[in-house]
Amino acid sequence: MIFEPVTYTNPKEFVDETVARYRESVGNSGVVGFISGGADSTTCAKLSLKAIGGSKSYLIHFDHGGMRKGECDSVLRFLHRDCNIPTIFHDYTENFLGAVISAGSDSEEKRKKFSKAYFDAALEETKNFGAKFFLQGTIEPDWLETSKHKLKRQHNVLLEEQKNRFRKQGIQVIEPLYHLRKHQVREVARYLGIPDSVAKRKPFPGPGFYCRIVGQVNRDKMEALREADSIVMPDLEKYTEEIAEQDFQCLCALMDNKVSEVDIGPNFTYGINIEGRPKITESRVTGMVENKRSYTNMLLIDSPNHTTAALAYASEDIIRKNLDRGIGRCAVLINEREKKGEYIAVLRSVLTKDFTKAEATQISRDNLDKIADALLELGPPSISEVYYDVTDKPPATIEFE
Ligand code: XMP
Repeated sequence: MIFEPVTYTNPKEFVDETVARYRESVGNSGVVGFISGGADSTTCAKLSLKAIGGSKSYLIHFDHGGMRKGECDSVLRFLHRDCNIPTIFHDYTENFLGAVISAGSDSEEKRKKFSKAYFDAALEETKNFGAKFFLQGTIEPDWLETSKHKLKRQHNVLLEEQKNRFRKQGIQVIEPLYHLRKHQVREVARYLGIPDSVAKRKPFPGPGFYCRIVGQVNRDKMEALREADSIVMPDLEKYTEEIAEQDFQCLCALMDNKVSEVDIGPNFTYGINIEGRPKITESRVTGMVENKRSYTNMLLIDSPNHTTAALAYASEDIIRKNLDRGIGRCAVLINEREKKGEYIAVLRSVLTKDFTKAEATQISRDNLDKIADALLELGPPSISEVYYDVTDKPPATIEFE
């Protein structure tokens, strides 16, 4: 029997109806589910346990190679200890890394390969457990962004090709949260007794660091970013939280140190003083212009005498006037070391209500300096320049890919 996802009215009705339909659809078969530890997949795991119990719910947390340092261990501990969700761990690092490396440098190509590796793993696991159902926590914005608005491909959205593969193998995909938005998932999570810390976790995108390595992925870059992230995040989040009156997200991205000089006209045009010649990155980063996805280069400026607030304000003007030069984002130099290294690190912190729009956080230059100093100590492979992204969403996206 085909599982039809329930539309949301309130947590109790949603859970009662979903559990009943789930039980009826699945019958005696087992269900395999991928659990990242975020609100959506953790809620799905709880629904499965409630509907068919632990002996037929095979819940798997996997490492795709783009996770934070220690992330898998802490997720597993949290699922077992705090949520009472028995979870199996499998390591898919080589499958995902190999797939994304083979995609080259284009962001959508990388997302396509990541998504294919994800569904390959899903099919393999479901077959291995002799199950007929695969469970995942897709929510409404995921498929709207992928299929309707074509903003970006979310790895877990089943497009025709993947649907056919599941159909051929006689495996049904169950997506209980298909019609829900994030705040509704949080209400359901709370109703199911999932600790608030899940709902409050800052979003970490499904593809993890694969969205934050700009351009070609390789193993060195992945390790460098994992290390950089672990150094940067505690302070970046602390400084952001000190001034945030709403939700926020912080991250660090890594790009190749391949840049060229660019002429954006005289300084007075933008009301700020830019030292030396601005630079433009060879790699492109994603953005959002008039609700469509853009893929443009990033402007790097050195402007030590202005606050991040003044620079964020000026960046709007800079981008508007330089779209024809392919510039869609602007970042300001925080610190650099003399010797040219392989990578540039870009720090990003944004304040947001619902992640559809966001503004660059006005962290003080002093605090950004402290973070950048720690990053420049790293290596090899070395980061020789640290920038702070001062672009709002739109025209940028929160992530870089
Ligand atoms: P963007 O970059 O589109 O991000 O402004 C908006 C929010 O979505 C998260 N994000 C993702 N989450 N899979 C996810 O599960 C993805 O492919 C993905 N891309 C972006 C991002 O971290 C931010 O919170």
